[in-house]
Amino acid sequence: MKKHCALVAAAAGSLALLSNFASAEDTTTPAVYTADQASAGAAVYAQSCAVCHGSALEGVAAPALTGDAFHEMAQAQQLTAATLLSVTAQTMPQSNPGTLTPEQYNQVTAYILQQNGYPAGPAPLTQDAPLLKDLLLK
Ligand code: HEC
Repeated sequence: MKKHCALVAAAAGSLALLSNFASAEDTTTPAVYTADQASAGAAVYAQSCAVCHGSALEGVAAPALTGDAFHEMAQAQQLTAATLLSVTAQTMPQSNPGTLTPEQYNQVTAYILQQNGYPAGPAPLTQDAPLLKDLLLK
C-alpha cells in the first residue's frame, strides 16, 4: 500500500509539471488552443468555410473536417495541428486562399480541433507555438 501511495504521489507530481501545457482533463494530448479562440473560430468557420465543408463540418462540396473521413485523411497524411494550420492558411478558403488574417486562421484551426475533441488550454494557438507540431491528429 505504501508503495502504491508513492507512485500516486510521483504521478501527481508529473501532472503538476504538465499542467502548464495540457488541460487538467487530458494530460496525454497537448492543449494547443484556448477556448476563446475556438469560439471566435466558430464564427470564422460559419462565414468562410461552412458553405463548402458544411455547417457541422460534415462535408458537402468539400471533405468533412470531423468524423471518420477526417480522421482517415489525418492519419493518411500524418496531419499535425501545425500542418492543419499551414494547409488551411495556404489553401483555404479554396475559392480565395490566404484572405483571412493570421489570427482568423489560428481561430478556425482551434475550432476544427475543438470539434474533433482535442482539449483547450491556457496557451493560444499561434503559428510558432512549440506544441503545435507535437499534436498528431488521428
Ligand atoms: C469553395 C469551397 C471551399 C471553401 C470555402 C473552403 N474549403 Fe477547405 N477544401 C475544399 C476542397 C474542395 C477541399 C479538398 C481538396 C483539397 O484538399 O484542396 C478542401 C480541403 C480542406 C482541408 C483538408 C486539406 C488536406 O489536408 O487535405 C482542410 C483542413 C480545409 N479544407 C479547411 C478549410 C477551412 C478551415 C476553410 C475556411 C477558412 C475552408 N476549408 C474553406 C473547399 C473549400
